[in-house]
Amino acid sequence: ARERTFLAIKPDGVQRRLIGEIISRFEQKGFKLVASKMVHASEELLEEHYAEHKGKGFFPKLIAYMSSGPVFAMVWEGTEVIRTCRTMMGATKPLESAPGTIRGDYAIDMGRNIIHGSDSVESAEREISLWFSDDKEIINWECA
Ligand code: CMP
Repeated sequence: ARERTFLAIKPDGVQRRLIGEIISRFEQKGFKLVASKMVHASEELLEEHYAEHKGKGFFPKLIAYMSSGPVFAMVWEGTEVIRTCRTMMGATKPLESAPGTIRGDYAIDMGRNIIHGSDSVESAEREISLWFSDDKEIINWECA
């Protein structure tokens, strides 16, 4: 199905100058970038974003890390984009992520794993509306 997903390059990915490399991978795959912005996210926004992890041991560190510097937030569109982006990102645990995936190629640390991507249609819709205002920031464009 034609879908949208929310992807965010985490502070480590921004600081390591990986924004261009990561955008290239998804563009070359054939997906369409329909929104993007650099955001120094507040703890409030991140606590909402990561609501499902509230109460877990790593939650405070996760929020502190994700608010320590800017993230690069994006909305991508395309056929099966949610699942395919997850595959291209690689496993959450960098030591389990396959070579050729973003985390497999660039990360060795669980917290600093370069990129976030929505894991379902429901979380994509939730995350997109949390990070972007639909009417102003998401662009519906086609080839002329
Ligand atoms: P992500 O899947 O994007 O969302 C939750 C994040 O929490 C995960 O990436 C990791 O970066 C981070 N994290 C840190 N420690 C852990 C842990 N022990 N288990 C799961 N996620 C963790």
